[in-house]
Amino acid sequence: MSEIKKIGVFTSGGDSPGMNAAIRAVVRSALYYNLEVVGIRRGYEGMILGDFIPMDRKSVGNIIQRGGTVLRTARSPEFRTKEGRQEAYNQLKAQNIDALVAIGGDGTFTGAKIFGEEFDFPILGLPGTIDNDLFGTDFTIGYDTSINNVVEAIDRIRDTAESHSRLFVVEVMGRDCGLIALRSGIGVGAESIFIPETKTDMEAVMHRLEIGRQDKMSKILIVAEGEGESGGAMEISEKLKKRFPHYDIRVSILGHIQRGGKPTCMDRVLASRLGVAAVESLMEGRRNEMVGLLNGKIAFTPFDHAIKHHVEINKDLFKIVDILSL
Ligand code: F6P
Repeated sequence: MSEIKKIGVFTSGGDSPGMNAAIRAVVRSALYYNLEVVGIRRGYEGMILGDFIPMDRKSVGNIIQRGGTVLRTARSPEFRTKEGRQEAYNQLKAQNIDALVAIGGDGTFTGAKIFGEEFDFPILGLPGTIDNDLFGTDFTIGYDTSINNVVEAIDRIRDTAESHSRLFVVEVMGRDCGLIALRSGIGVGAESIFIPETKTDMEAVMHRLEIGRQDKMSKILIVAEGEGESGGAMEISEKLKKRFPHYDIRVSILGHIQRGGKPTCMDRVLASRLGVAAVESLMEGRRNEMVGLLNGKIAFTPFDHAIKHHVEINKDLFKIVDILSL
């Protein structure tokens, strides 16, 4: 029998589309199993301040299709201190909250791991980040929406690039990770992609531009923001200008539009499955793990594995860009 009677749910770190679907799934499944459920606003910051709201079925009505997070989010420096975490624990105890579902990325899970161990507190995590950089799940909640946002934006850029015969260097998000760049790059037929996980041979990129079809009106190069080696989108464009003075080159930084908007159906279903699994697994006694989906099945990964093990780049995907863009 489950000892858990009351669950707290929160979102933390950068928001991602589908977080609302995950909140809804946690709230409704908790109520389904006759547990009480409380929303914690603004992540760990709200936990420290006791910013809690009781949740019922209606409170998560009509949010499955909304981007962002109705519980709001924050990055909390105070939770990194022992005193901050102690205060958060006191607040949870005062509300009789027995367990937590944390929805976020690596920063969220780092905090969850420390807190869970420090106070022997049951926590499960749901992977909510557009970066898809957590080990132990094929996809994170928000990644699919984000790459579709990128594809839509670059399709528009392609129209204008084609009309003016321009080369665009497009910077996409991904602080330490090139998975947004990689998949959206294939989706838009990019000529080259630059990601932090692999060493970029600028000379090879230039050579490909030289030997590529000269009748091609537009060229799109995608750079993940975390790719520091080549100097980022601006520096890459400067290098290209020197080598190809006849190219009309523009830089476009997509920024936060990648993170907003309605979640795709893939993200809604993923969030719903993981949210239900989190509540059921807490009741079964699981803790200090991320709930993910591997090969279509629910999978559990300890927090420290989820954040420390780098997601490997699928080299075949990388090669596809080279084969198809010439
Ligand atoms: O981790 C998600 C993410 O969107 C990264 O891709 C990006 O580098 C970062 O968050 C941006 O964070 P902020 O919204 O704080 O600028």
